[in-house]
Amino acid sequence: MNRIDQHPLAGRVALVSGASRGIGAATARLLAEAGAQVVLTHRDSEAGALEVLDSLSGSGHRVIRASAADTPALEAAAAEVASAYGRLDVLVNNAATTKVIPHADLRALDDELFDTILRTNVRGAFATVRAFHPLLKADGGGVIVNVSSLAARMANGSNVAYCASKAAMDNLTLSLARALAPEVRVLSVAPGLVDTQLTRTWDPAVRQRMIEHTPLGRLATPEDVAAAVLAAVVSLPSTTGVVIPVDGGRPLG
Ligand SMILES: NC(=O)c1ccc[n+]([C@@H]2O[C@H](COP(=O)([O-])OP(=O)(O)OC[C@H]3O[C@@H](n4cnc5c(N)ncnc54)[C@H](OP(=O)(O)O)[C@@H]3O)[C@@H](O)[C@H]2O)c1
Repeated sequence: MNRIDQHPLAGRVALVSGASRGIGAATARLLAEAGAQVVLTHRDSEAGALEVLDSLSGSGHRVIRASAADTPALEAAAAEVASAYGRLDVLVNNAATTKVIPHADLRALDDELFDTILRTNVRGAFATVRAFHPLLKADGGGVIVNVSSLAARMANGSNVAYCASKAAMDNLTLSLARALAPEVRVLSVAPGLVDTQLTRTWDPAVRQRMIEHTPLGRLATPEDVAAAVLAAVVSLPSTTGVVIPVDGGRPLG
């Protein structure tokens, strides 16, 4: 294997939103290992983002504070990336928010939380694409990977609004894949339950049941999701507008 094979993203720039921990952090690390210069965004976890920055291989990485729910901050981030790197090749829309609320407890899912989830997970993903799209298409080969969820397909996840937000995200993937072709490919990766801070507080019995009903017999790791993102970016040049499951076969269980 030559150096190009080991570093398929050498000379490329990638941005991972919500990269201060969990799946975003693992994805940033793998993209850096593949040779990319990586921009990590976060909302308010600066210490976590700086720790992830320190852990990346290679050089030229940076952290930018930009909430997915703050469109002016996203536009400012795009201007910073344009001035620092002059390009963007990979955009990973990973930032998302949620809260565990039983689906039958309709009163507990109030308007404010519903709006926050949609504003962050759906409008935020779109606004990030809108801000970075001119850079992504500039070199003729950009890729957007939306980190969705099996909750989109199963309507089973932390709450009703979260499931709806991920279904909306998969729909965005289809619309944008059509609208941004041929310069930019757009895909979703859809994890089942992943062992991160987001799910660590879940009832252990629920997590155990999930494992028992997953053919591969384990939860996915953040690194499994990162591997799917990297595959979508470097190994599927003819694929756009699809949702790639990373769920251990959970729908079969
Ligand atoms: N864990 C799972 O089981 C699972 C399953 C399926 C899909 N997913 C999806 O995978 C992605 C990552 O999940 P995770 O488990 O790694 O979550 P996590 O551990 O809670 O990390 C979420 C990341 O998003 C950031 N974030 C939250 N709100 C933000 C905002 N408004 N703007 C920018 N960044 C924001 C957080 O940083 P701050 O603290 O700075 O806000 C953090 O870096 C999400 O899209 C999630 O829906 C997760």
